[in-house]
Amino acid sequence: MLEVKGLSKSFGGLAAVANVSFHIGKGEIVGLIGPNGAGKTTVFNLISGIHRPLKGKILFQGNDITSANSASTSRMGIARTFQSPLLFGELSVRDNIQVALRDGRTVEEILRFFGLEWVENEVPNNLPHGYQRLLGIAIAIATKPSMLMLDEPLTGMNPSEAEKACQIIKAINTEDYYFAG
Ligand SMILES: Nc1ncnc2c1ncn2[C@@H]1O[C@H](COP(=O)(O)OP(=O)(O)O)[C@@H](O)[C@H]1O
Ligand SMILES: [Mg+2]
Repeated sequence: MLEVKGLSKSFGGLAAVANVSFHIGKGEIVGLIGPNGAGKTTVFNLISGIHRPLKGKILFQGNDITSANSASTSRMGIARTFQSPLLFGELSVRDNIQVALRDGRTVEEILRFFGLEWVENEVPNNLPHGYQRLLGIAIAIATKPSMLMLDEPLTGMNPSEAEKACQIIKAINTEDYYFAG
């Protein structure tokens, strides 16, 4: 599904990512771990087309996406979340999902799957932190991706929120329906 070969990226002479290679198969859940500043977010930014690598290659479903921008990686089926969820503050939970929605999907089923029906008319800021994070994942799933990248999905969650988020992440992966294939 995803193949990363010899990926490198520097910011003003500082090597953020140096010669990173890995492979991810369909259906796999893979974690990228490392201390703060290790370069994890930069790897996500490179794969999703926010940054261009200095060196290396990124192949997604056999296509070379090394130079693709974020609009085209999204169209090709790559979705990602951000360390701090990027939500539309004035829109309701329902409308935040609606704007990301791609065909073959309804807001109702996404609200239900993520347990967000009870707050569908609230603005994101009125939600407990854990639910704001879940909404970030729900928005990513609304785009009907083939691959989902979660940046620090459990950071700042209490143990019960983290447990719920883990269950949802596993459920997304077993629920073929949620992915474009
Ligand atoms: N847009 C940027 N401009 C300058 N430096 C950056 C930028 N993004 C990341 N860095 C630097 O790259 C290194 C890796 O950062 P990052 O990928 O955010 O690490 P992580 O997500 O593992 O905490 C850090 O030293 C960080 O300061
Ligand atoms: Mg990071």
